Amino acid sequence: MAEVARATWEMTVSQPNETTFDVVILGGGSGGYAAALRAAQLDLSVALIEKDKLGGTCLHRGCIPTKALLHAGEIADQTRESEAFGVKAELLGVDMAGVNTYKDGVVGRLYKGLQGLVKGSKLITYVEGHGTLVAPNAVEVDGTRYTGRNVILATGSYSRSLPGLELDGERVISSEHALTLDRVPTSAIVLGGGVIGVEFASAWKSFGADVTILEALPRLVAAEDADLSKALERAYRKRGINFKVGKPFEKVERTENGVRATLAGGETVEAELMLVAVGRGPTTANLGYEEQGVTLDRGFVTTDERLRTSVPNVYAVGDIVPGLQLAHRGFQQGIFVAEEIAGLNPPVIDEAGIPRVTYSDPELASVGLTEAKAKERHGDDKVTAYTYNLGGNGRSSILKTQGFIKVVRVDDGPVVGIHMVGARVGELIAEAQLIYNWEAYPAEVAQLIHPHPTQSEALGEAHLALAGKPLHAHA
Ligand code: NAI
Repeated sequence: MAEVARATWEMTVSQPNETTFDVVILGGGSGGYAAALRAAQLDLSVALIEKDKLGGTCLHRGCIPTKALLHAGEIADQTRESEAFGVKAELLGVDMAGVNTYKDGVVGRLYKGLQGLVKGSKLITYVEGHGTLVAPNAVEVDGTRYTGRNVILATGSYSRSLPGLELDGERVISSEHALTLDRVPTSAIVLGGGVIGVEFASAWKSFGADVTILEALPRLVAAEDADLSKALERAYRKRGINFKVGKPFEKVERTENGVRATLAGGETVEAELMLVAVGRGPTTANLGYEEQGVTLDRGFVTTDERLRTSVPNVYAVGDIVPGLQLAHRGFQQGIFVAEEIAGLNPPVIDEAGIPRVTYSDPELASVGLTEAKAKERHGDDKVTAYTYNLGGNGRSSILKTQGFIKVVRVDDGPVVGIHMVGARVGELIAEAQLIYNWEAYPAEVAQLIHPHPTQSEALGEAHLALAGKPLHAHA
């Protein structure tokens, strides 16, 4: 099928001249560069336009540097807790300059590798500069027009704030500022108990800061299954991370040494600084999108399930498309659109099948529907959830981590959701997403062997139990 489609397509394209391409991509982040690399593999000529650094938010200001901070924090915690493993060590302190050198080194190496990949492709023209959509098929950069038979919008997102809440970069900061701090704050308020909020709270606590999270919704990580929120809250209480949920933030004032935040009802919290983590907004303003007829909804680009915008041959990928703002979603959407343009007719991406990981301590990982959503969709009495406690898992015991794996299935049907909490469970989501996306039945997973002693056994055990034959658990 794919071969036929490709052959037809090859006959219809003409040779590009210097500024006419099969695909013009605006934005070189996860979505944009994935589209460029896949399009080039498919013999399409590409102009990839980026005003800042190739790699975008995830590589330079998001996923990679934050996970490096969290790993440094993990080492600090392990040093503090080493005696529990019979190892004598003393934590002398956290040297943020050293942590930042390590973090920047990781980013730098990946950046170099990525530049090499893009430069290595003869079919990709990399354009450095600020692009604007000046026609439905053209992007202009510094007076030069790059015309495309297809255009992919991939301009990403920025840290949002609240109306009237100004980020000064010193006392009231965004996650971008937080990543370049040259010190560990003695105390911090984290506004927003979503993914960014709980990850920074985790890292800063590990570094020795006194942290308080303020969340308007009734629970931390409110988009996750309620049991994961409960487990995270319990673990944070144990770690001494403070949080106040269910009360919206009202205002922040500067004090002599920091900030004072006030919640609805008048309660106040003081700290050296406040991180604002209330979501990320789409970068779509002043780029010519609306002028060229691209429909926006609250700033996000409206697309159909094949990522087509309201303008023919103009597609959108990544954080500007409503849904999960995750790098791996951007990669997959970029690949999807490149294949769509090449005529390969790729299957539509199922948003619920995109794995989600929060790299806090403990980690959270999930895919598919929460128990509540599954019941809403399939009926209260048609869904079974089974929770396997990591207490029964040898490797988790060795790691001294607590947590569980919760598997949600439709009765006499497939697994529709997997939700996990505990150290390193982010690594288990790879198998969980195969189970969900392949619509596996518990009995099918139960036949497969999980190596002993690994944490992956806990996934196997949960499916054994759901298949009616638990090994190290009760039915
Ligand atoms: P988020 O949408 O996950 O969380 C924002 C939180 O702020 C929500 O819980 C919301 O209720 C709360 N909030 C909003 N207004 C408030 C107010 N007035 N008072 C108190 N709380 C308020 O957004 P976040 O954490 O900023 O992350 C942005 C994006 O980046 C997310 O879409 C996330 O998926 C992505 N990201 C993903 C990571 C991962 O996959 N590990 C890591 C970091 C970010």
